[in-house]
Amino acid sequence: MQIITSITDMQSHADSLRKAGKRIGFVPTMGFLHEGHLSLMRRARQENDVVAASIFVNPTQFGPKEDLDRYPRDAEGDRKKCESTGVDILFTPAAAEMYSERPSVFVNVEGISDILEGAIRPGHFRGVATVVAKLFNIVKPCKAYFGQKDFQQCAVIKRMVAGLNLDVEVIVLPTVREADGLAMSSRNSYLDTEQRRKSACLYRALTAGEELIKNGVREPETIKQKMRAVLVQEKGIEVDYVEVADPDRLTPLETAEGRMVLLVAARLGSTRLIDNLLIL
Ligand code: PAJ
Repeated sequence: MQIITSITDMQSHADSLRKAGKRIGFVPTMGFLHEGHLSLMRRARQENDVVAASIFVNPTQFGPKEDLDRYPRDAEGDRKKCESTGVDILFTPAAAEMYSERPSVFVNVEGISDILEGAIRPGHFRGVATVVAKLFNIVKPCKAYFGQKDFQQCAVIKRMVAGLNLDVEVIVLPTVREADGLAMSSRNSYLDTEQRRKSACLYRALTAGEELIKNGVREPETIKQKMRAVLVQEKGIEVDYVEVADPDRLTPLETAEGRMVLLVAARLGSTRLIDNLLIL
């Protein structure tokens, strides 16, 4: 596995691979890798000639009071995991390589970036769209892999790719979960034993919502009330939002019919957790 930290080195390497007719599959991450990340890398391995992954804790997607400074890191462990998953190129730029001191160019995907996660984390999706656009221009992939775990992020990136005519195929893969249903996340490492036990209520809330829909409940308010009730059964859970939304636009549904996505976001102490369930 080749480790590249310079943007120009990565770009010229990608150019020569493309000239040789190789198809590059790309998995962008912020590191502290778990099975969710590795599932994306394994799929990229199956579908491409060359697999590139990036590890970059992107400062522009963190709010001023968020966890940028304490975001978990494990450079050595991540390197081994990438290598054993068959990653060919690991791109790990420094923040100063990716951004000038006062970056002035951003990608803004309007509308969808301002609701749900975007309403609670202003500027978050501007940071995500900007760094992913930059990474696409640096790594030059044919296909890029994202996890459904971050459902709104996938919607923002798909819209960015369409809106800017980026020549990258976006592939979204299912959420990988722990045995009790908790969606794997680097941020789960913040949870103490008691919080970790409680955190499974996000998935329980989603499946309780799904159950109502399967039983014919069509009133979003009823479904949302049920999801909230399941969440607040655990003491210490603070609900940020629950939503029954259109899976493409992410806007609230008036009737829970057809394709839809259930979304939840909650806090346990200082840790924010998000999860979702797609209902087809
Ligand atoms: P990060 O949280 O490290 O996630 C990297 C990729 O792994 C994302 O596409 C995310 O959706 C996916 N992922 C995380 N947990 C998952 C799980 N349990 N199952 C399946 N996939 C999972 O998301 C980011 O980083 C950043 O915002 C990034 C896109 C790299 C831009 O900075």
